[in-house]
Amino acid sequence: MSGQTFEVFTLFPDAVAGFLRGGLVGKAVARELVSVHCTDYREFATDRYRTVDDAPYGGGPGMVMKIEPVVAALEHVTALRGPMHRILLTPAGPRFDQRVAERLAALPRIGLLCGRYEGIDDRVREHFVDECLSLGDFVLNGGEVAALAIIEAVARLREGVLGNPESAARDSFSLQDMSSGTGPEDHEAWLEHPHFTRPPEFRGLGVPEVLLAGDHADVARWRREQVWRRTWALRPDLRPQRTLPAEAPLYLVAHFEQGPTDMSERAAWITALAAAARQGGAELRVVAPGHRAPEVAGVPRAAQYRSLKDLARELRRRHGRAPRLVALGPAGDLPLARGAAPLLDLLAASGAGDLSAPLVLVLPCAATGDLARPVANAPQGRSAPSFEPLKGLEAAFSPAPPNASGLASGLAETPSMNDSSGPQPVDAAARLVAVALAELKSRRSTNPPELRHEQQ
Ligand SMILES: C[S@@+](CC[C@H](N)C(=O)[O-])C[C@H]1O[C@@H](n2cnc3c(N)ncnc32)[C@H](O)[C@@H]1O
Repeated sequence: MSGQTFEVFTLFPDAVAGFLRGGLVGKAVARELVSVHCTDYREFATDRYRTVDDAPYGGGPGMVMKIEPVVAALEHVTALRGPMHRILLTPAGPRFDQRVAERLAALPRIGLLCGRYEGIDDRVREHFVDECLSLGDFVLNGGEVAALAIIEAVARLREGVLGNPESAARDSFSLQDMSSGTGPEDHEAWLEHPHFTRPPEFRGLGVPEVLLAGDHADVARWRREQVWRRTWALRPDLRPQRTLPAEAPLYLVAHFEQGPTDMSERAAWITALAAAARQGGAELRVVAPGHRAPEVAGVPRAAQYRSLKDLARELRRRHGRAPRLVALGPAGDLPLARGAAPLLDLLAASGAGDLSAPLVLVLPCAATGDLARPVANAPQGRSAPSFEPLKGLEAAFSPAPPNASGLASGLAETPSMNDSSGPQPVDAAARLVAVALAELKSRRSTNPPELRHEQQ
């Protein structure tokens, strides 16, 4: 790729040139990867005072930059060094962003017209430029800072300017494939994960353990999750609205690892959850170690499994792909998505498969206590709970809180165990299922196919 040239038109060429002597752009200029020429409008003023501004027609405060020196400067540089893509810097232009930077990085010659005072006579915008750009919704005294920002953002995307080209590809707002890589729609703008460096502790402030442990796969997983978390929490506006594909099978699992041992109580749970599942477009499955669940109308023995692992195996056989297992309610250290949108986003971001895999919501059926503890957070030494079958859970899902701030962040940083504390009788659990499924239903891309409910 040959070098890229920026032509900056300004009343303050020294300020622009001074800034560009330093940093990576300065190095790129020295290595002739990028060239920057500054042209002073004043050189093209024709009166003896070298006037470049005049009072506005119609009156009012301030001065306006005259059209003649601006156009003369443009035409002179075009004749001298060749045509260029002309950009007028103005707060009234479309916002400059990473996508625009990427587009501009492909151009060989870019002209940046900096205004001062009240701006440049509007005939320049109408007839002498190719586009307008704004740095943001605020007003600077002149276009020079905007021009410099654009030069830096564009030049660093050119081959050879950054030491490691991968760093630009990973930066915030670069297009990254965070999901399954099934199509261009998967390439979205994300915030980058946070960075830390030595020392490992500063005034009692540590760094995430995973970064010190030296396991590359764990670090990659952690970074991926951080990208997702930060984008949701800090810039939810960047996030795409994901939908659950119509063809994605949806299952609810009544999990009896803990909870009532009494068969009639279990039957009550299964009956209530089967109804909630049916209404929400999900099929109910029962996981009960030792098949200790009663047969209930609409939920035959064939829908009962000894462990989640058995169920997952069966679903993989049935649908030809591994299911995504998600706890319903907070679950220990699992990332908690509050609401269907963050959940789908989290599942897509984890990269373990696309969103059309069977989605399995696992509800711990506990007669008392909270929904979370039986899944993954039992106190050490508690008698007998075996967590082995629940290993495959990759996230926890709670319906979105009703308040707007909760919706905005979508993801709870620290799963609160209070969310589901207190008794969880069957009715409350069925309500939770109904709300969770209704949320997922509202995010189906089209109506889900009719789900079969095996008859007894
Ligand atoms: C004081 S400003 C003029 C603002 C103008 N009167 C208005 O209200 O839109 C002078 C010059 O600064 C530059 N400028 C100011 N804010 C900018 C922004 N947000 N993005 C790009 N250029 C800006 C433009 O070149 C503009 O002509």
